[in-house]
Amino acid sequence: MNTGSYYNDKVVRQFAIMTVVWGIVGMLVGVLIAAQLLWPDLLPPVPWLAYSRLRPLHTNAVIFAFGGSALFASSYYIVQRTCHVRLFADKLASFTFWGWQLVILCAAITLPLGITQGKEYAELEWPIDLLITVVWVAYAVVFFGTIALRKVKHIYVANWFFAAYIITIAVLHIVNNLAIPVTLTKSYGIYSGVVDAMVQWWYGHNAVGFFLTAAFLGMMYYFIPKQAGRPVYSYRLSVVHFWALIAIYMWAGPHHLHYTTLPDWAQSLGMVFSLILLAPSWGGMINGIMTLSGAWHKLRTDPILKFMIVSLSFYGMSTFEGPMMSIKTVNALSHYTDWTIGHVHSGALGWVAMISIGSMYALIPKLFGREQMYSTRAIDVHFWITTIGVVLYITSMWIAGVMQGLMWRAVNADGTLTYAFIESIKSTYPYYAVRLAGGTLVLSGMFIMAWNVWKTAAAGTSTADSPVVQPA
Ligand code: HEM
Ligand code: HEM
Repeated sequence: MNTGSYYNDKVVRQFAIMTVVWGIVGMLVGVLIAAQLLWPDLLPPVPWLAYSRLRPLHTNAVIFAFGGSALFASSYYIVQRTCHVRLFADKLASFTFWGWQLVILCAAITLPLGITQGKEYAELEWPIDLLITVVWVAYAVVFFGTIALRKVKHIYVANWFFAAYIITIAVLHIVNNLAIPVTLTKSYGIYSGVVDAMVQWWYGHNAVGFFLTAAFLGMMYYFIPKQAGRPVYSYRLSVVHFWALIAIYMWAGPHHLHYTTLPDWAQSLGMVFSLILLAPSWGGMINGIMTLSGAWHKLRTDPILKFMIVSLSFYGMSTFEGPMMSIKTVNALSHYTDWTIGHVHSGALGWVAMISIGSMYALIPKLFGREQMYSTRAIDVHFWITTIGVVLYITSMWIAGVMQGLMWRAVNADGTLTYAFIESIKSTYPYYAVRLAGGTLVLSGMFIMAWNVWKTAAAGTSTADSPVVQPA
């Protein structure tokens, strides 16, 4: 067989299946820590089950294992289809799969053991960081190699978003993790004080901007037009959206450091860029939603499209909320409260998880030689369970967050605090219970997905690579 005339679907299938597996694992840990916040004595008092160790396990599992696998799967699928060539370097592509799984395994072992750099979203210690760098460079070679081999002159906009994410994550990862190792499991970062904080949140915010946003927009720009059977609403807007988004995101990081020792002008700069960020974010959202013009009726019958469109609505919501929270006076209320957690999950669950789930439902059947998933009804049930779950999660956290912020700043006429801190925690419990219910619903949906994927694979006719479509 001349493999060159077939797409490399194997690596896409591997990553797609692991997306579902890591989705379940990551969200299960999410539900567990949500339960711990409600019942602090839930788990036996052993260090590796402590909240402080399970929390980074959750964030790493959902962002890098679940989100990362979804991005590898979709970028490899999309770059081949839009360039009309097989993926460059099969063995290297396979290395990225096994290498990434090894990174996840190392994270799953070291984080509960308490081995950490103590930097949020960059907790992993230096040997794992080196492995990530090697895998990421291999990913870049495979992706850009495929672009170089393309049979069409034009580079489709989704690939621009993936390209920006691959390059930016490489730079962020290397700069933020520069450290001096002292043992195999311990290193000291080269930055200190406020410089350390600034580099960390330059990294943290752009991890949101490029990992959790730009790359998923790449997914959106391919799968929404495909699923709707319509061209992108405005291709010109998608290009403006791309350049505006990547140019502005870079400067918004200081909004994570309001009222700290970071110079005031830098905080204000971060705030202004965050406010400007609303425009390209909404431009992208509108472009995605308007792609449905003339195909709105499909929403009635196609639950995959529902996942995608609702995810865009959450994207719009979180990118409105984010700029508002970056205003210093608003941040004075929201910072340290559960409002931030609500914002995070309206982006992470509503946008990232829902667009990933929709896209996986669109591509998984094709990888098993089927037209569609085994059960469309199950996708619909999954859609409703997830939507209700996400709404319960984020509304409870919004209310809890605003309540906490107001309680903490309430003062009596004589200047003493109206509430003790513990009172604000006590008042938050009912909302933690609602969040737990919402999270449990979202997790149950993932089990339905796993069942549907299993049935689709079992009923599939072939796992052979599909032939490369020649450009028109
Ligand atoms: C069943 C679904 C989920 C549940 C129940 C859940 C629950 C939680 C809980 C309880 C926390 C800790 C909150 C705190 O410390 O007060 C948390 C943090 C976090 N979760 Fe989730 N989560 C879920 C899904 C996700 C997904 C899919 C993502 C990303 C794609 C995500 C990203 C994050 C992030 C980034 C944080 C840290 C937020 C911060 O530090 O401000 N979560 N989650
Ligand atoms: C225009 C877009 C956005 C802006 C301007 C923005 C702004 C903000 C602000 C001001 C905070 C609170 C910082 C603090 O008080 O500590 C925040 C936190 C956060 N946002 Fe956004 N946001 C945006 C979109 C998103 C999206 C789409 C996601 C997820 C997909 C997201 C994920 C997060 C996370 C994970 C945090 C918590 C970081 C931490 O403290 O651990 N944001 N964002």
